[in-house]
Amino acid sequence: MPASHSALPLLQAEDVVARLRALRTRQPVGYSAFYSSQLGGIVTDPALMVIPFDDHMVHRGHGIFDTAGIVNGRIYDLEAHLDRFEQSAARSKLVLPGSRQDWRDIIIRTTAASGRQDGSIRYWLSSGPGSLELSPAAGSEPGFFVMIFGGLSYPERWYTQGMRVMTTTYPIKPPLYAITKATNYLPNVLMQMEAKEAGLDNGVFIDAAGHVGESSNMNVAVVTADGVLRHPKFEHVLPGCTSLRLLELAPALVGQGLLTGVEVCDIPVADARAAREMLLLGSSVKVAPIVEWDGRPIGDGKPGPAARALLALLDEDMRTGNRLIEVPYGVAG
Ligand SMILES: Cc1ncc(COP(=O)(O)O)c(C=O)c1O
Repeated sequence: MPASHSALPLLQAEDVVARLRALRTRQPVGYSAFYSSQLGGIVTDPALMVIPFDDHMVHRGHGIFDTAGIVNGRIYDLEAHLDRFEQSAARSKLVLPGSRQDWRDIIIRTTAASGRQDGSIRYWLSSGPGSLELSPAAGSEPGFFVMIFGGLSYPERWYTQGMRVMTTTYPIKPPLYAITKATNYLPNVLMQMEAKEAGLDNGVFIDAAGHVGESSNMNVAVVTADGVLRHPKFEHVLPGCTSLRLLELAPALVGQGLLTGVEVCDIPVADARAAREMLLLGSSVKVAPIVEWDGRPIGDGKPGPAARALLALLDEDMRTGNRLIEVPYGVAG
């Protein structure tokens, strides 16, 4: 911020670009490519990865997003993420420009332009610019954006030693907002900040009926004392693509004696506290064991075998499964 006594210059376009570049030098970012329907193309200079301030996604949070992973040069489980994107759009009264084939194609081509073989693809649908009102401006065009970046990274100790979490003091989102992946993440942000301030790794939302909800950007599941993998119903938490896929893959562990069953049901807090294992699941975290919740150990207080086995199943699916899309790196345009 300039000191109050210094002049506030009226900037020309080239000054703005120079200042945006200086901002990125002061705070470097690992963004490799960005598509904007408003620009009608892809940029690779992070200084140019911008969106108009009056887009309603910026000042009213009227936008949705989703994130898929790039693994070894292939996109993992994109169709599941696109399904959720469409559902979030419909619930938010946002109309996607073009067809699903069009925006799938833009996502794949932006990934190719980034050259990135491992990382994340995050894409947004915004309500569009044109006013500072609440409802979208008359004639506003929805914006579609795709960002290719390194992905969120978490400490190795989460997997080797396990995570320590707390019940958040912030209320869970009402179901409609919890199942919609909108850009309103204030409760999720506050929950994570609160946990970090307490020296912990993350928080857990509990619903009004006293059932386990989810975490900041991850789902929560447990393995009961008798070996059943239990996941909360998807009516009041985000239907995580990782959770949905793991619920399909996990029955393989029943045959191997690591689990005795797989269930989607309400999980009362007391049942979760008595669990043998507790897990965080998500595209960025994959499968991480929780070893302590509200200062009390889960199971024997160490990462358990089901967490390790589920992570291995997911890793295998991400590398060799049938949900991978090849990225045409090096193919122009
Ligand atoms: C609130 C919330 N819950 C759960 C998840 C896990 O979803 P996924 O497995 O699709 O990453 C996410 C991440 O998208 C999230 O933001």
